[in-house]
Amino acid sequence: MQKQHTVTNNLIDKLRREKELTFEEYLFLIKNRDSCSEYLFKNSTEVRREIYGNDIYIRGLIEFTNFCKNDCLYCGIRRSNKNAERYRLTKEEILLSADEGYNLGFRTFVLQGGEDNYYTDDKIEDIIKSIKYKYPDCAITLSIGEKSYESYKKFKLAGADRYLLRHETCNKYHYEKLHTKEMSFENRINCLKNLKKLGYQVGAGFMVGSPYQTEENLAEELIFLKNLKPHMVGIGPFISHKDTPFKNKQSGKLDLTLFMLGLIRLTLPNVLLPATTALGTIDPEGREKGIKAGANVVMPNLSPVSVRKKYMLYDNKICTGDESAQCIKCLEGRIKTTGCNIVIARGDYKGGNEND
Ligand code: 5AD
Ligand code: FES
Repeated sequence: MQKQHTVTNNLIDKLRREKELTFEEYLFLIKNRDSCSEYLFKNSTEVRREIYGNDIYIRGLIEFTNFCKNDCLYCGIRRSNKNAERYRLTKEEILLSADEGYNLGFRTFVLQGGEDNYYTDDKIEDIIKSIKYKYPDCAITLSIGEKSYESYKKFKLAGADRYLLRHETCNKYHYEKLHTKEMSFENRINCLKNLKKLGYQVGAGFMVGSPYQTEENLAEELIFLKNLKPHMVGIGPFISHKDTPFKNKQSGKLDLTLFMLGLIRLTLPNVLLPATTALGTIDPEGREKGIKAGANVVMPNLSPVSVRKKYMLYDNKICTGDESAQCIKCLEGRIKTTGCNIVIARGDYKGGNEND
């Protein structure tokens, strides 16, 4: 036991020094995570502090449509879910959410939605321009799925700064078990590459503990991320949703999600790493624990309370009944317990130009 402890700690020292490990080394750490998670978190929080101090960035999430043309097996707003009550926000409603967010100190807005063709490129461009015109000091992040290079380019020219598109898993075989035939792993990865090419700050990411995921897959994720060099990595536990084919599947585990956060922080030291809502859903102090594992971003919901329960990607999602003002107060208190503080800032990536 003592011996294993030394081996794992030495690997963590090596990871901190060299910022990468081999597949076998990552796998060894993941398999022996119980013996070294405290030591990992000590290192990952130190590295975060060296780069971002005690600052925690907030992103205001505006979930503007839950219509989706896709049918991802894990997701509560998949098109086959006839129990989902569908909604779309108007441009005016989106702007009202942004107004509220701005007054609460948000300087980044994340426009997230299902893949909904009602919002044509022109409509999206108009929404981006309207927010940018009113709040030129704010960053705009899009999270609206797979689009063509030309569409991504139009959105960038309209003023979008960042784009979130989780790859969900870096293993093609695994990807196909989570998605229907009409979706392709190659296209997903190609989208991420196009976004980088266009100069977006890009967020990739995956679920921890999604059905059929193995520890080997998680080791692969770290190698994949090291090569992709995204500016943000969004990871959270998979949580089952009662109206999906995965309703009886086990949810992802807290300890494993935290461990992955720590490994990602040491592998990509400058990365923006959210303590996700899903993490806060599987454990009442999940987001605080995420920050103590190396995360430095939280993304509270700014959507109107009237639609929040309708954007149910998974069961029991937290913060669906609370006003944005209440949420941010609550989060501020929670984050203080970690020794960190929410800051009013765009919260850009601190590092070199990773768009190669
Ligand atoms: N559990 C956890 N996360 C989920 N997402 C979608 N469905 C689930 C679920 N059941 C995540 C996906 C998606 C992001 C918006 O939410 O990773 O990219
Ligand atoms: Fe939303 Fe606590 S953060 S209620």
